[in-house]
Amino acid sequence: MRLTSAVLAGALLLGVSAEDTEVLRTSTGPIQGKVLEFEGKKVEAYLGIPYAKPPLGDLRFRKTVPVEAWAELKATKDFSKPCVQATYIHGQNVSVDYSDSSEDCLTINVWKPAGGSAKKAVIVYIYGGAFQFGDSSLFYNDGLPFSALNDVLFVSFNYRVGVFGFLSTHHSDAPGNEGFYDQLMALKWIKQNVEVFGGDPEAITLFGQSSGAFSVGLHMYSPLSKGLFKRVVFESGTALSLITFQMKNEISRFHTLIGLTNCSYGIYSESKYNETMECIRKAEAKSIIEGVSHLGHLADMFLPIYNDDFIPVHPLMPEEVKALNGDEVFMGTVTDEGTMFINYPLQNLLAQGDIAKTQYKIVPSSIYPRLFDAPWGAIYHNFDQYFENSIDSYPEETTYNLIGQTYGDAVFTCPTNLFGQFLAKRKRSVYRYQYTHKSSLKLWPDWMGVVHTTDLPFMIGSMLTHEANLAEPRYNNTPEWFRKHKFTDEEIKFSKQLVKTLGDFVKTGKPSVPESTADWPVYTEKSQEYVNLAPNNFTRSSDGPKKDKCELWRPYLIRKKESLTSTTSTTKKPSVGFGPIKKAPPKPTKKSKGTSKTNYRKRVENRYKNGALPIQSNSVLYILVSVFLLIKAGLC
Ligand SMILES: *[C@@H]1O[C@H](CO)[C@@H](O)[C@H](O)[C@H]1NC(C)=O
Ligand SMILES: *[C@@H]1O[C@H](CO)[C@@H](O)[C@H](O)[C@H]1NC(C)=O
Ligand SMILES: *[C@@H]1O[C@H](CO)[C@@H](O)[C@H](O)[C@H]1NC(C)=O
Ligand SMILES: *[C@@H]1O[C@H](CO)[C@@H](O)[C@H](O)[C@H]1NC(C)=O
Repeated sequence: MRLTSAVLAGALLLGVSAEDTEVLRTSTGPIQGKVLEFEGKKVEAYLGIPYAKPPLGDLRFRKTVPVEAWAELKATKDFSKPCVQATYIHGQNVSVDYSDSSEDCLTINVWKPAGGSAKKAVIVYIYGGAFQFGDSSLFYNDGLPFSALNDVLFVSFNYRVGVFGFLSTHHSDAPGNEGFYDQLMALKWIKQNVEVFGGDPEAITLFGQSSGAFSVGLHMYSPLSKGLFKRVVFESGTALSLITFQMKNEISRFHTLIGLTNCSYGIYSESKYNETMECIRKAEAKSIIEGVSHLGHLADMFLPIYNDDFIPVHPLMPEEVKALNGDEVFMGTVTDEGTMFINYPLQNLLAQGDIAKTQYKIVPSSIYPRLFDAPWGAIYHNFDQYFENSIDSYPEETTYNLIGQTYGDAVFTCPTNLFGQFLAKRKRSVYRYQYTHKSSLKLWPDWMGVVHTTDLPFMIGSMLTHEANLAEPRYNNTPEWFRKHKFTDEEIKFSKQLVKTLGDFVKTGKPSVPESTADWPVYTEKSQEYVNLAPNNFTRSSDGPKKDKCELWRPYLIRKKESLTSTTSTTKKPSVGFGPIKKAPPKPTKKSKGTSKTNYRKRVENRYKNGALPIQSNSVLYILVSVFLLIKAGLC
């Protein structure tokens, strides 16, 4: 039923909207998109194509189910709603409201240039957001400019985030990693259908940023992702980037949540598991989000688990992976990856007086040992290496930035180096960049430098449609200076250069160096060569980056044992997420009918708080709370 252009031309004469594309027949049904234009180039956009059965009602928390095929022509001209999530903080004074999100969100978007080469290369974009946030329709995830400028297909999709995407009860009906099963389902649909859009199924590049890049790393590991892509791009994240805490006490957290959604039946027991899940599947998504928000700033993050079908190994043990997926690798980081994550803790510390100066070491001592499951003393030592002189000798903002460097190195820069070196040893072609441009769009205080995620709109070219996209009503609540920001001509040129660099990687497996005919150097442990990315400055360096600092972090980032603090064997443990639910919480003290739920809720909340947070002092609590506030704000 595919319309030929002659028929289409005829249809146009008959008065069919000139904005419609031809009808495409996908494996799941016929679709019709709309024609857009970017700088005079026509691009067909097919938006909101369903790839899975909406995970509503009984399907909530379950592994992804394929979409039912449809026979009638489906209009795919607008994005679906984003997946359910809380308010997203994009900058110090910029947040995006998500009250209009939905669980019916599992859709794919394809931007396809009209004409051009017949078998186009394909970039598939996986958004970041610490697995708690993310939305393929968000302004800076726009695929139009990249597709138009590179003559490639740009494909993005939604996957479930937060409790809806990562709840694990260790029962098969809520196994954990549901969001990854969404990603898998989307990748399969794309592989199967990309030819219908004129794409080459043998030239698919996975591109992820932050937790999206972490996802890409896991797809390299996973036997379930075999054959679904050829190339990978890691922007500010890899499989070695443990951007989130390993959650403990998951059982009581689940109990808290079912208490908060009135699904606890007074007391939870395994024999009531089915009733409990039936109840929580009937609850309004809004009330679950509301319940999650009461879990506290650490406990409200629902995170990936490992040692399941999708992730067979601990992410920090890549040597265990027998068959790695993907051939060529383009990867990189920004100058100040960590500053955003320590901004709020510092603000809270400062609010308590001069504590930032005297007690700055609580940052590493309270966070890193848990993050890496590594000995406190050793990590404390690493932290000290960032301060050559007494801390009093640095200007305050330098101190903040240095603390940010420790986090950025441990979680982003060094994992990128080490993962690159590991992949090079596994005979992958690896190319590394370091992005050093400070955007004219000021979302954060100056000392934070070149901040995490600020490179993304430049790399994929969505800064070129910034103002147009932010004219949509959903952004009316963001400040005008933000919506109407005009990037400089130099920045626009820079972004177009990066779009070409990345586009060349997608098409050939090798990025091109802007303003140069030289080859991009190959990254190996020995060379550690990379290309600096800043306007009019694409210099080559061979210092890692952060070569010396990364040697400090190396033992914690690639390892032979899961835990560096315990002596237990490395054989399969349940996971970083939930253990099996087997223990019932203690019996309520009072059985008064009217208040038993309230009591239960208070009790489990307290239990959670006592068990989950290593509360040593108010300051530590402030830091923990703040770091997680920040991480959960979708900033990683
Ligand atoms: C739970 O029950 C309490 C008391 O009946 C009610 O106030 C509250 O709104 C309910 N919460 C949800 C999420 O249904
Ligand atoms: C819960 O439901 C599952 C699947 O239907 C069933 O196999 C199991 O026996 C049920 N458990 C209880 C305790 O009823
Ligand atoms: C955010 O707003 C506050 C108050 O208006 C202002 O002082 C601060 O500079 C703003 N921050 C940024 C990064 O624009
Ligand atoms: C280019 O960038 C590098 C890395 O940020 C910097 O050290 C160098 O000074 C820059 N060169 C110029 C000419 O700006």
